[in-house]
Amino acid sequence: MVDAILGLQWGDEGKGKIVDYFAPNYDIIARFQGGPNAGHTLYVGGKKVVLHQIPSGAFHENTINLIGNGVVLDPITLQKECGTVASFGVDVRKNLFISDRTHLILPTHRALDKASELAKGLDKIGSTLKGIGPAYMDKTGRNGLRVGDLLDKSFTTAYIKIRLKHQRLLDNFNFQEDIAAWEEEFFESIEFLKQLNIVNGEYFINDKISKGKKVLAEGAQGSMLDIDFGTFPFVTSSSTTSSGVCSGLGIAPQKIRDVMGVTKAYCTRVGGGPFPTELHDETGEELRKLGNEFGATTGRPRRCGWIDLVALKYACMINGVTKVIMTKADVLDKFPELKVCNSYSIDGKEKNEIPFQMTRHKITPLLKDFEGWNCDTASLKDFSALPQKMKTYVSYINEYIGAKVSHISNGPGRDQIVVVD
Ligand code: GDP
Ligand code: IMO
Ligand code: MG
Repeated sequence: MVDAILGLQWGDEGKGKIVDYFAPNYDIIARFQGGPNAGHTLYVGGKKVVLHQIPSGAFHENTINLIGNGVVLDPITLQKECGTVASFGVDVRKNLFISDRTHLILPTHRALDKASELAKGLDKIGSTLKGIGPAYMDKTGRNGLRVGDLLDKSFTTAYIKIRLKHQRLLDNFNFQEDIAAWEEEFFESIEFLKQLNIVNGEYFINDKISKGKKVLAEGAQGSMLDIDFGTFPFVTSSSTTSSGVCSGLGIAPQKIRDVMGVTKAYCTRVGGGPFPTELHDETGEELRKLGNEFGATTGRPRRCGWIDLVALKYACMINGVTKVIMTKADVLDKFPELKVCNSYSIDGKEKNEIPFQMTRHKITPLLKDFEGWNCDTASLKDFSALPQKMKTYVSYINEYIGAKVSHISNGPGRDQIVVVD
């Protein structure tokens, strides 16, 4: 039995906290895509931790954490992160397993990411510059190196060959970067990586499933950043939607039961690209301040706006969402008035579908008003205690998207979550 947790917006919906909350119900947490562009925030014993590569089940003693073949792995980040987790007294290495098919992010991938963004000028994507795009390009271009290759004596030769190729590309970009220091760190960290549990991920997970173990697939980024269904070209380079669970772990579709989609009660985006409900005014500023909306990976201020139900409904459709988890509802506590986007005016015509290319049109969100609840909700534990106005807001969203909000998260802590009756 496999359930999935993934983002329904443009990332940073609070997936890390939600995976950590549900982790005790599962035997295995398996990341299926993305890389260190992700920043998943958890609170462990009141202390904040941000995970980039290790699945968010890391702090549960008996939980296996699997890095799937769909992930791109930066060994330098992984080693540092194992150190962070160890500082909490958890030896994550015992329960951490890595698929041998997982592609490696090389130092030159990071340099190529930078070079490519620079060359794009004003059209830049706003990449996290972690080497994600170039690493996935080498995967689909059938050039990349994988974790399993580390165990072969031909690794260094293969590395030199691909590095040369990358150098030619960097020369074409006329981009210079001293990667010697990164390379030194890289070669140190692959020695560390070689000591970890490297497995054939697809047999590993299917064997556990056949023995009745429960798997929770953890997504990174969000559906609107999906390589196929997101706001292309302002997207990431992997399948962030539920299809990525199958290809990123080697799991058949009929094994997937619940697809739990995480959405904020409002909306944010970090980096470039279309964001119809973005607020450029004081309300947007207030959302950023109250929601502490700064990137967990890059520290960049997140762009903020009202919840976009056209995009949310689209994400539910693509993913086959069975349950919706709404986070950061508490951030709306102080707003006297709330708005939700019901449809778009696209070049003057009302539409409630995501267009082929959002950047080619003038899109104005058409908004519906709701009264704010104007009370503190962060300490509430029971659905019955939630303000009626919050329930009205959530009911409207349920109805619009055709899926039910099953949990409302009302604070960053593990226990700050209300189960909806
Ligand atoms: P992820 O990438 O989807 O895991 O999300 P991030 O960790 O990048 O960003 C979510 C941020 O919101 C983190 O700082 C969390 O600690 C915080 N957070 C998660 N859920 C809630 C919530 O319900 N209320 C509040 N106030 N903060 C939350
Ligand atoms: P989590 O898992 C929010 C955004 C970047 C950029 C675009 C492409 O924490 O939700 P990339 O580095 O993949 O080439 O960047 O995608 N992006 C994210 N935004 N949360 C993330 O991850 C993101 N990972 C990438 O800002 O716009
Ligand atoms: Mg994040």
